[in-house]
Parts: sequence; structure tokens; C-alpha cells
Amino acid sequence: MGNINATTTSIIGNPDETIIEQLVKSIDTSHTEKIKLHFDDAANRFDNFIQTLIPNYNNMIEILTAIIPFDEHDDFEVIDLGCGTGTISYFINKKFSHAKITCMDISEKMLQIAADKIVADVSCISGDLNTFTFPQKYDVIVSSLALHHLETDQAKFEMYQRIYAGLKENGIFINLDIVLGSNEELQAINMQNWINFMKQNVSEREIVEKWIPSYYADDRPTSLRSHIKFLEEAGFKEVDVIYKAFNYSVFCGRKRI
Ligand SMILES: C[S@@+](CC[C@H](N)C(=O)[O-])C[C@H]1O[C@@H](n2cnc3c(N)ncnc32)[C@H](O)[C@@H]1O
Repeated sequence: MGNINATTTSIIGNPDETIIEQLVKSIDTSHTEKIKLHFDDAANRFDNFIQTLIPNYNNMIEILTAIIPFDEHDDFEVIDLGCGTGTISYFINKKFSHAKITCMDISEKMLQIAADKIVADVSCISGDLNTFTFPQKYDVIVSSLALHHLETDQAKFEMYQRIYAGLKENGIFINLDIVLGSNEELQAINMQNWINFMKQNVSEREIVEKWIPSYYADDRPTSLRSHIKFLEEAGFKEVDVIYKAFNYSVFCGRKRI
């Protein structure tokens, strides 16, 4: 971890932020270290606020599980990258009770909640997506609202290359994530739509002082067109977009040899 620098004294007393959130902003850490600290701190509150911040969250999860190409009683192996509190894995387990699930995240606090939430046996791996090497090959690799934290397009492309290598033949990768509009005009519309959604659930002050700054500090989304290009360049076939509304999308690709 980096050193606390001189800006520590200028912490803004935003009452909607925890002390940890305020400290994280003032500490000179790498982007990934900040993300880990942020999610460690947010772990216990995550399941309460995520529903208020992400439009169609449950619907997108339903779509993600709907395109897993297995029958409900099949045995298959799946890994959930950036699993957070394990919501995606929980719903996969609910639908596919024989699936062998591995949850992976950089935040051990998130992983602990995930392990408690999913009643079935799950394996948990604590690790950083930037350097993660898959311990085995999987039939299904999923990720939700996590890969946009990878800092650069290059890091996202390299992640897709590693995901491709981590899949068994005919395996599928499904990503539910934040994406950018393909021009500034569309991106402004996306942001407005997100703000309008949040306004139904949280105060305008919290949106302006907490969630918009957190988006610019923590999130590094790229356009859906770039994701598709990176997936195809990484070797994926049958790349498809199953859902897209404003700045959220569910898309997938298969490993066919
Ligand atoms: C917004 S949460 C999403 C959690 C969950 N997948 C969901 O949809 O509810 C993002 C998760 O990605 C994890 N994450 C972010 N950057 C990561 C990295 N470099 N390596 C591993 N996990 C990371 C965070 O710790 C956090 O749990």
C-alpha cells in the first residue's frame, strides 16, 4: 500500500461516506488496491445498495443464467470472476444444483459473504483479476459488474485471452457489465438514464456526492464494440449481445475449436 500523502488533511466530510471511503480517496494507492479497499469496506452493505444503483439488475442476472447452455440437472464447472457477495453464483446454484461453483474475488470480505450466502459447497479463490491464472479449465466462466474495474483496454483484452485459455472446448464466457456509449452524446444519455434510476431510490445529494464520484474514481468501462472486438481477437466465436440497455449489457462468446 502507498503512503498517506498531504491530502489526508483535506478529507471532505461527506456524511454519506464512511471514514474508510474518505481515507481510500486520500491514500496514494494503485487503482486495484483502492478497489480492494473500497469493496472490503462496502461488503456488509453491498447487497442493500446494489439493487438501488443498478437498473434491471435482477433481470440481467436472469438473462445471464438463462444462456448457460446446460440442463438443470447437468454437472458442469463454473467460475464467477469478481463474484462479490456471490449473488450470481447463488442464482446459478439455485437453477443448476449440480454445478460445481468457484467464486473468485480480490476482496476476502466479499468472498466470505459469498461463501455464507451460497448454501452449496463452493470453492473460493482470493486473487487479482489482473494477474489471475485459472487453476483448471471450466465449462462456464461468468462475471458480473467486475471486469470494468480493470484499468485499461489492454488489461481487458488480456483478461479475455486468459478467460479463453481457461475454458474447456465448447465452453461459454458470459459477461454482465457496465459499458460506455460509443460517442459522447450517447454516453451522456446513458449517464442521465442511470441517474434517473438512482433518483427513485437515493437522494440527489448521495448521487452527486457519492455515486457519480465513485463511478469516475473506480470504474473504467469501455464500449460494447470494443468488448466484442477484444472477444473475437481473443479467439471467441459466436460472440453475441443478449441484452443492452443504456450503460449495461450482457454479452457472451463460445470457445469452439
Ligand atoms: C460491483 S461488484 C460486483 C459483484 C458481483 N459480481 C455482483 O454482480 O453482484 C465488483 C466486484 O469485483 C471485485 N473486483 C474488482 N476488481 C477486482 C480485481 N482486480 N480482482 C478481483 N476482483 C475484483 C470487487 O472486489 C467486487 O467484489
